[in-house]
Amino acid sequence: MIRKGIILAGGIGSRMSPLTKAVNKQLLPLYDKPLIFYPLSILMLAGIKNILIIVNKGQLNQFRKILPEKNNLGISIEYKEQLKPEGLPQAFTIGEKFIGKDNVSLILGDNFFYGQSLTKTLKKNTSFKKGAKVFIHPVKNPSQYGVAFLDRKNKVIKLVEKPKKPDSNLAVTGLYFFDNQVVQFSKKLKPSKRGELEIIDLLNIYRKKKILSAEFIGRGGAWLDTGSVKDYYDASSFVSTIENRQGLKIACLEEISYKNKWINKKDILNSIKFYGNCVYSQYLKTLI
Ligand code: DAU
Repeated sequence: MIRKGIILAGGIGSRMSPLTKAVNKQLLPLYDKPLIFYPLSILMLAGIKNILIIVNKGQLNQFRKILPEKNNLGISIEYKEQLKPEGLPQAFTIGEKFIGKDNVSLILGDNFFYGQSLTKTLKKNTSFKKGAKVFIHPVKNPSQYGVAFLDRKNKVIKLVEKPKKPDSNLAVTGLYFFDNQVVQFSKKLKPSKRGELEIIDLLNIYRKKKILSAEFIGRGGAWLDTGSVKDYYDASSFVSTIENRQGLKIACLEEISYKNKWINKKDILNSIKFYGNCVYSQYLKTLI
């Protein structure tokens, strides 16, 4: 069972400079909310209430302002700093104490997921006990991601980080479920040629032990990139289109908590006070 989740929200965001010079990328607006609301909503939809957010050294107070430890979301938020962005698997060594003896999920702070039956897929997979799980999604430009090659039985037989000549169009998204061995395996990793610890190397340890499985986020779901300024605006306009058509919000954290019965009307009223008079608060009012 997975009950703990880590959001890796550091990185220097150099591809989006100057936007990211003073403000962490994960705090920039994706349409009407900070980007970090979206990956956090995914963990919450999966039923995960214990959250560790890893941020850059010196940026903790920025994050605390919007997602304080003492929050109205009915979830536990802890913070840790990453001194330098030396690779995704550092999440598990930085988070060793938080993870304790449990299994854990990792989501990258800049990943956006949306789609029908996503909650069902997430919940189905949180019950796993041993091994690791990746979520894969077809993309037009696989060279920009970790790429998975599957056999006929949908078993992952190859994983490569940003291959020049990809064997498939299946990107490994930034959402992963791991058993507790992940802490020890992460400690064994060596930096790659680009000087970072690589998540693909970590996943390959599980693959070689034959305890890695893959779940598809099919074409009915969306996994959008927020890597470049253009991608960022495209993702923003996707959220705007859906929200304005449906009158429902994507990644409204209080709505998810309320539906999960983690919070009550009083908490929502406190959230409304916290955000002040704005469209998001008006939406919260409609929930109660
Ligand atoms: O988005 C999915 C992709 O994410 C996967 O397909 C790749 O296998 C995986 O390596 C990763 O690739 P990226 O090139 O997109 O990773 P990037 O370095 O941009 O970091 C992703 C997020 O993690 C970003 O929000 C910054 C944060 N980060 C990154 C590193 C390396 C940290 O907080 N600390 C880090 O040390």
